[in-house]
Amino acid sequence: MKKTMAHLHDKKRSGQKIVMLTCYDYRTAVLQEKAGVDVIFVGDSVGTNVLGYGSETEVSLDEMLYHLKMVKRGVNEAYLLVDMPYRTYEEPQIALETARALLAQGADGVKLEGIEPSIIEFLRGHGIEAWGHIGYNPQLHRDVAVQGKTFEQAAALIEGALELQRAGASMLVLELVPEELADVITNRLSIPTIGIAAGRYTDGQVLSVNDMLGVNPQKLRHAKLYMDFSGQALEAIRSYSEEVRNREFPAESHVRHMKESELRRVEE
Ligand code: KIV
Ligand code: NA
Repeated sequence: MKKTMAHLHDKKRSGQKIVMLTCYDYRTAVLQEKAGVDVIFVGDSVGTNVLGYGSETEVSLDEMLYHLKMVKRGVNEAYLLVDMPYRTYEEPQIALETARALLAQGADGVKLEGIEPSIIEFLRGHGIEAWGHIGYNPQLHRDVAVQGKTFEQAAALIEGALELQRAGASMLVLELVPEELADVITNRLSIPTIGIAAGRYTDGQVLSVNDMLGVNPQKLRHAKLYMDFSGQALEAIRSYSEEVRNREFPAESHVRHMKESELRRVEE
């Protein structure tokens, strides 16, 4: 059964956690779908994780569309969310065009960073499920830093969250905020919150799939390494290299032969 926005809201009401992961390609989408992930999310973190960019701000709309299309081919029941990339939603009409381009490729909803209630309201007015994303915002903040640690900052984030909800945001991502603040915001909102580096009490969790699989070899404070992909892959690539050089690969089991009679004629 397709996981709709109503389904995600039901999860909050009934106290079931929402599972979300970033996804950048078809094969990984198939795995996430098979594992029953609720929200498969094409994040603009594709820029640093896959494209080799230094920042999310380098990712274009065309690149988001390209990755969205490959992920979409592997998604069936999960809710498919996509990021609106840097500077593609500065004005309501431009935001609408961006969102429509992404929905046309099969996204169920779009996410945008910052406290932008007028954009959210405009998209919602056009029937688009728009997610907010506050706290640390990679598109907007130069340095990675915990947001909302002081009373003033925390109060501004709580007010911002309420404003986004009033504007019609479907969901809210909270990134790199103290657990206590994420808890307060989650309790104040009727829409579900999804946390990353935001502690235990949000309605759901999101991680970059590259971080949790260890494709990114760095251990980040907020993430848990569920496997050591980069370590195992490095080992595998080294073994392959060694075996080619040693003439161990390919072995008899990997090769195909021709009939001796045919071979004799070739050799003649
Ligand atoms: O692009 C991304 O990975 C994100 C998550 C941090 C929520 O926006
Ligand atoms: Na993002």
